[in-house]
Parts: sequence; structure tokens; C-alpha cells
Amino acid sequence: MIIECILTTTDPEGQVNCAPMGVEWGEEIIVIKPFQETTTYRNLLAHAAAVVNLTDNVLLFAQSAIASPIFPTRPAEVVAGVVLHDVCSWREVQVETIERHEPRARITTRVVRRGFAREFLGFNRAKHAVLEAAILATRTHILPRDAILADFERLQVIVDKTAGAQEREAMQILTDYVYAALGVS
Ligand SMILES: Cc1cc2nc3c(=O)[nH]c(=O)nc-3n(C[C@H](O)[C@H](O)[C@H](O)COP(=O)(O)O)c2cc1C
Repeated sequence: MIIECILTTTDPEGQVNCAPMGVEWGEEIIVIKPFQETTTYRNLLAHAAAVVNLTDNVLLFAQSAIASPIFPTRPAEVVAGVVLHDVCSWREVQVETIERHEPRARITTRVVRRGFAREFLGFNRAKHAVLEAAILATRTHILPRDAILADFERLQVIVDKTAGAQEREAMQILTDYVYAALGVS
């Protein structure tokens, strides 16, 4: 099963990077599959630890999908890394093996700490719609333009029906980004 998280990693100078990643979930082992051109991949090669942040705040997914924001964090408890401030729960992980597959590496990590901060609110269609929109926003250079625009139209209907303010804002910044990338006026 793939779980969508915000992965926090650090570079050799201690600079934090936040990126949405779908990770292969396990209680003891979590597999991260970053594309080789990502900062996440470079950081995991340089510093063998990360934090898998589980959050229902989809604005964090939207913002970190299209840019490199610096979110509020606090130090992790076991690994040299950081936990997002707005997290529901998290896993601190240590890298065990790196398989340098192209284009996506396969990085097997061991869970060394589990943390809990707050309740994860139940299913919400708008949150899922924003996640799908965020993935599309990272693939504007790969996927057909018309397919992306049709998906955004469909996802917007779900957001209009079921969103709160956070989901509406997240969808808006993703739409602005995608329209600019695809030259939609
Ligand atoms: C929900 C979601 C899941 C994603 N999963 C992955 C993934 O598993 N591997 C990957 O390389 N990129 C994934 N991406 C795309 C990266 O987040 C995106 O390329 C990002 O810019 C990488 O950031 P970085 O260069 O700071 O590491 C995902 C994006 C979203 C929105």
C-alpha cells in the first residue's frame, strides 16, 4: 500500500527539504521511491535519515508539490531530522539500502521512532481531489495538456462540493500554477 506523506530530509549543511512522496507502507520498513533528479534523493544519499510526516493538511502537499517552501518544524526525537509542526503522526526512519534504479531509486528504510501529535480527521473528498491535483501539477511536463485540464475541471467540482477553506486555497494555488505552466489564460 502506498501512503502519501510529506517527507522531510536534510542536506549535509542541515538545510531542510520538504516534498510530497508516496511511500510503500510497512510497520517496520518503509520504502521511499524518489526520482533521481529530486532533492529528496540527493539528501537521502548524503544523509541516511528522514521523517515520514502524515498530515491531513493538504495545503502543505500543494505548496511543496510546486515549490520548495520552508514549513515550521521541530527536531525529530531519534534521527537527525525534523518533524512538521502541522503533523498528525510521523515515522522517523533510517536508510538501510539504496537501489539506484532509473528513473526512480528504491530506498529501504527502517522505522526507528513513531510519534503522534493530533487526530487525523476522517475521509474528505476535497482533500483527495487536492492530492490528485498536486500530483498532476508535478507532471505537467509529462502528461497530455488536455488530460490535465479535463482532470482539473473534474476535481474542481469535488472541491466545490466538499472543501473547507484550506482545501479551496490549496486547489486555487495548484490551478494557478498548472494554468501558468500550460499557458491557459
Ligand atoms: C502526493 C504526491 C506524491 C508524490 N510521490 C512521489 C514519489 O513517490 N517519488 C517522487 O520522486 N516524486 C513524488 N512526487 C513528486 C515530488 O513531490 C516532486 O517532484 C517534488 O518537486 C520533489 O521535490 P524535491 O526535489 O524537493 O525532493 C509526489 C507528489 C505528490 C503531490
